[in-house]
Amino acid sequence: MKWLYILSVYTHVLLATFWIGGMLFLSFVLLPAIRKPEYLRFYHRLINDTGVNFSRLGWGALSVFFITGLYQLHVRGIEWYDLLKLETYKGPTGRLIALKLSFYTLILILQAIHDFWVGPRATHLGDEAPNSPEYRRYRYYARSIGMIVFFLSLFMALFGVMIVRGGFKV
Ligand code: HEM
Repeated sequence: MKWLYILSVYTHVLLATFWIGGMLFLSFVLLPAIRKPEYLRFYHRLINDTGVNFSRLGWGALSVFFITGLYQLHVRGIEWYDLLKLETYKGPTGRLIALKLSFYTLILILQAIHDFWVGPRATHLGDEAPNSPEYRRYRYYARSIGMIVFFLSLFMALFGVMIVRGGFKV
């Protein structure tokens, strides 16, 4: 079933390019562009609609990361129930898997706070009270959570690359 393993890693890496690339595009391409005075009246709506689209696809990506990730662990002889045993996390690869699963759990929690609480609240305040300190506060929270998820995802990719290459052992 080598082809299935290759398809799984291929899908996993493509999703990583979408997920990390999407956050890079939002932060460093779209946001700087629409902060220009001539686009400001579209700012709030465009950020919201882009964010909602990315969030929908993002939750799909985060789910498929888990499915392909579990399969890749299975190919490496680690079954889903082994993840409940402490000895699975011993050794360089075990520690990387522990880091990857903890960062992944943190990403899910932060993304849920961002998409289902802070983000919608910022959007609502942007409609109701765009000059209020509360709106600025929730926009700051949304941006900060987004940045933390971005850096956690960069580490997820690094841990993945290290798992494949046996950690720091050369
Ligand atoms: C934000 C989420 C994630 C990102 C960005 C990500 C990224 C990556 C990347 C870039 C690789 C390296 C592929 C290579 O060098 O060939 C990789 C490998 C791997 N990832 Fe993930 N990953 C994510 C989530 C997960 C999850 C949730 C799991 C486990 C349930 C997982 C398990 C693995 C495994 C086992 C490998 C080794 C692949 C192999 O066997 O060749 N990943 N990941």
